[in-house]
Amino acid sequence: MAIFMSVSSSSYLPEFRFRRLRRSSVLRDLVRETQFSLNDLIYPIFVQENIDAAIAIDSMPGVFRYPEAELAQVVKTAWDKGIKAIILFGVSEHKDDCGSDTWNAQGLMARMILSAKAAVPDMLVISDNCFCEYTDHGHCGVLNKDAVKADVDNDLTLVNLQKQCLVAAQAGVDMIAPSGMMDGMIVAIRQVLDDNGFSHIPVMSYSTKFASAYYGPFRDAVDSNFKGSRSTYQLDAANAREALAESMQDELEGADILMVKPGLAYLDILCKIRQNSQLPLAVYHVSGEYAMLKAAAIAGVIDEEAVVLETMLAFKRAGADLIISYYALQISDWINSEA
Ligand code: PBG
Ligand code: ZN
Repeated sequence: MAIFMSVSSSSYLPEFRFRRLRRSSVLRDLVRETQFSLNDLIYPIFVQENIDAAIAIDSMPGVFRYPEAELAQVVKTAWDKGIKAIILFGVSEHKDDCGSDTWNAQGLMARMILSAKAAVPDMLVISDNCFCEYTDHGHCGVLNKDAVKADVDNDLTLVNLQKQCLVAAQAGVDMIAPSGMMDGMIVAIRQVLDDNGFSHIPVMSYSTKFASAYYGPFRDAVDSNFKGSRSTYQLDAANAREALAESMQDELEGADILMVKPGLAYLDILCKIRQNSQLPLAVYHVSGEYAMLKAAAIAGVIDEEAVVLETMLAFKRAGADLIISYYALQISDWINSEA
């Protein structure tokens, strides 16, 4: 008498019960597909020239513009909380029509990098490499001479971007992060870095950056009087194929890390790029996303910690490896208090 019935002769079809693996927290931990930790976070820091005390950003409670003299302490505090990477944004008082302060070796960008690295040499210091906080018109590059329709001149901007990135590298930056969405920016940067002894410095491209209303509070944060549109260089929110092509192009040009920006409204794009590239992928949880969560938390209508941590997990699940978030410090407080 056979002990085992062959499968084909069995008439028994078990009902599948997903709940079997959800019965205890140990089991749930064992089968969890995605992890999020402080190692994934990059903390953005705003530094403004010519101020004596930190200025609170109204639309982003908990976020400040710091005087240069306080940068070292801000970096130390972040490091002590377990944040190991920062991205620096300068708010310049030396603006001109092309953003030349960015390639001044004594300019704000170079000084921020020097002082952050001096404060905590192990902190991974990333520079946001653009011109919009250093130009008097607020665009992400130099304008062409067309009197009828002024627009950012792509190739002239690339030359300036090369000068800027070289100065950032000479100041000791650990990673270059160009955010201007100029065509050819990665190959231009890679070439100037490699030609000048900086072939070891990685480039994290803002490779797929949409023209987005979610940047509203950032414009407030950098005190930008910019009222125009960046739609001639940033992506149309409607375009998914073009979004993928942008990132694939930057991979081809030698980007080390790709990025999607903003985050939550663009998880489909994140997922698509993840499926088409083997490079590490970053997501920028932008100012408007932060502002909305903060407003809801202050109104008492969400559990802030739970919603923020769920949001981080959603980024990881969709394919992000790195997350740039204004919540980084607060997240570290939540995680450290549980440890
Ligand atoms: C500009 C820049 C922007 C952000 C970072 N760098 C916005 C813009 O295009 O105006 C957005 C950051 C945020 O909203 O958190 N190069
Ligand atoms: Zn810009």
